[in-house]
Amino acid sequence: MPNDPTRSHLVAMKGDGFYNRHSAMQATGIAALLSLWETACRTVVVGEGPLTIVDYGSSQGRNSMAPMRVAIKTLRFRSGPSVPIEVVHTDLPSNDFSALFEALVSEPGSYMNDASDVFPSAIGRSYFEQLLSPQRVHLGWTTWALQWMSATTIEAPDHILAGMSATPTVVSAVKEQQARDWERFLTLRSREMRPGAKLLAGFTARTATVTGWEWLLGELWSAVCDMRTDGRLSEREQNHLTIPIGLRTLEEIQQPFIQAENFADLELEHLDLVKLTDPCWEQFERSGDALAFAKHHGDMTQAWCGPMIASLIEPSREQAALVTELFTRFERRLSECPRPHEPYMAAVVLSKRA
Ligand SMILES: C[S@@+](CC[C@H](N)C(=O)[O-])C[C@H]1O[C@@H](n2cnc3c(N)ncnc32)[C@H](O)[C@@H]1O
Repeated sequence: MPNDPTRSHLVAMKGDGFYNRHSAMQATGIAALLSLWETACRTVVVGEGPLTIVDYGSSQGRNSMAPMRVAIKTLRFRSGPSVPIEVVHTDLPSNDFSALFEALVSEPGSYMNDASDVFPSAIGRSYFEQLLSPQRVHLGWTTWALQWMSATTIEAPDHILAGMSATPTVVSAVKEQQARDWERFLTLRSREMRPGAKLLAGFTARTATVTGWEWLLGELWSAVCDMRTDGRLSEREQNHLTIPIGLRTLEEIQQPFIQAENFADLELEHLDLVKLTDPCWEQFERSGDALAFAKHHGDMTQAWCGPMIASLIEPSREQAALVTELFTRFERRLSECPRPHEPYMAAVVLSKRA
């Protein structure tokens, strides 16, 4: 059922805590969102009783610690020391939830350190379904997830990322899918949010002309093409290697809110595009170690797309060996021409009509 968004064929990030250890780029984006998030936590309508914070697309949890700490601290300040606060992490069923629960116990920055009356839990289900009962959520947080499309049906013959293809039919299929997914996500979240609730979303986006991923993912695609040239992948396999990610412009994100002031009772409070700096570049400039720089980027890239790439290779082939070979070739390419990787992130704040 590849077109049914509730039955996602997506696979989660690389397990055994690999994503937690290799997601510094995403952490850089999260740091840039914290002041917007703190404002949302200060202005959300809280009322009486237990408070619910939901972290949509949490992965293995390390990057959620800082925003959850900010939310708990701000809500505690507003609602008193003993109001129960529940933190619900959600992700795909294939997510490494064990790493998340382990991080809650052992991460030095865990929001559970010295916390009282804080109750973490997790839901392993796509957020293209309603995940919580109506009007339960006070605060929603989601970072680096909404660029993933709900369906894996688009094949790009000219790029590894669906959203970076220049093929006109692919470009329009991605735009349509991303518009449908965005509206569906907003509608479902609105049902779960209480009146006056807030939702912050940060995800990979683009300007009208650039994505910021041209160098990094251009090299990954070139590594795929090298494997095709060397007979390691067939043309069919090369075409099938399409990561179901699309990058929206700010206009596309704004689209549901253009006709009326709100969409599904949600108001768009804030929207802008943030250009990130490369967390590995400064170290490379100091050390000049191109191999280490390439390894950092290779691991960070493999952390988010390695399992998806493996799943796009026929099970009858040596999936793991082919993925290892692809990333070895990718890192070699990166080390030959290091550049700063500076992607764009959309920062979106929504509020539910009070
Ligand atoms: C790059 S990780 C981001 C993790 C973390 N939020 C961060 O900022 O580092 C993207 C996460 O979104 C999840 N994801 C993608 N599509 C999803 C869906 N339809 N439902 C739930 N989670 C999804 C992935 O499984 C993955 O864990």
